[in-house]
Amino acid sequence: MSEYRADERRYEMIGYRRTGRSGLRLPLVSLGLWHNFGGVDVYENGRAMVRRAFDLGITHFDLANNYGPPPGSAEENFGRLLARDLKPYRDELIISTKAGYLMWPGPYGEWGSRKYLIASLDQSLKRMGLDYVDIFYSHRPDPDTPFEETMSALDYAVRSGRALYVGLSNYSAEQTRAAVRILKDLGTPCLIHQPRYNLFDRWVEGGLLDVLDDEGIGAIPFSPLAQGLLTNRYLNGIPADSRAASDTSPFLSARDVDATLVKVRRLNEIAHARGQNLSQMAVNWLLRLPTITSVLIGASKVSQIEDIVGGLSNAQFSARELADIEHVLTM
Ligand SMILES: NC(=O)c1ccc[n+]([C@@H]2O[C@H](COP(=O)([O-])OP(=O)(O)OC[C@H]3O[C@@H](n4cnc5c(N)ncnc54)[C@H](OP(=O)(O)O)[C@@H]3O)[C@@H](O)[C@H]2O)c1
Repeated sequence: MSEYRADERRYEMIGYRRTGRSGLRLPLVSLGLWHNFGGVDVYENGRAMVRRAFDLGITHFDLANNYGPPPGSAEENFGRLLARDLKPYRDELIISTKAGYLMWPGPYGEWGSRKYLIASLDQSLKRMGLDYVDIFYSHRPDPDTPFEETMSALDYAVRSGRALYVGLSNYSAEQTRAAVRILKDLGTPCLIHQPRYNLFDRWVEGGLLDVLDDEGIGAIPFSPLAQGLLTNRYLNGIPADSRAASDTSPFLSARDVDATLVKVRRLNEIAHARGQNLSQMAVNWLLRLPTITSVLIGASKVSQIEDIVGGLSNAQFSARELADIEHVLTM
């Protein structure tokens, strides 16, 4: 039996925003389990992060079929800690998963066919020990499968009781508009879009955010800290326990750290002048936009989650601060 009792004051710790024009509210910050929750990671550390996050009012946990490594192991670990700690709180949780990237060999193990999406969702539910997920995403657009097929699989996921809502991830503005129209016709509106968006990667400003505004869809940006670059993590070198130093994480390298360090130092100064640290400013810079429902962070330590939630008090930026940030980004 679990000894965990959630903090009774958890809903006083963080704000919540409505997801687009839907009825669902999400916390200003959500926790993603892409890194640090896999089979190669320390289970008790991941467990402590999820428990602390929930105690801080973070109700939304984001997964995908392939999170690990090995693929699937983040969902397995999350299932374990759900069973041990969070089961009594299931109705207070928004759990998402996705399918789109490679999960098993052969022609049905990735992309956007109905065959893959439904089989993958069934596997995810089994790994997590859940009857349903709250949000099921198409993780990436499939250039070879008609959107009608991918969207009808999302619609079926909801109608068959496997998911409550559906979302899109990594779809361009045009692809989103097309997919959203199909979902609307099917009667399963798109709830949310999950794009990469941070101070260093602003592609969504070229049309996607406008589509989401028009359609009343929420946005939950991933990698808001550019995987740790937009923090104080690398100001004095590459710590041995950081993502850039990790063998199991090929997505962030020492070269990325070197390439951004000058800008990071300048942004860090702007953050300090605002009374925030850089990670706090990076999250608030996203939250200044009403289209952003929740900012989807990753973490390797409980203290990082506390740091971000503790810095949510100021999402107002003066024109001068925004201009200073633009100046650094275009240096
Ligand atoms: N839909 C998609 O295609 C997609 C793709 C990528 C991610 N995602 C989702 O987005 C989530 C977040 O992505 P991400 O992990 O790249 O996000 P991120 O928030 O940009 O980076 C997280 C990393 O930043 C560092 N960090 C976090 N808080 C910090 C703090 N307060 N101070 C100093 N360093 C801090 C940690 O690095 P260290 O580990 O070095 O300590 C942490 O692992 C994922 O878990 C996943 O759910 C989705």
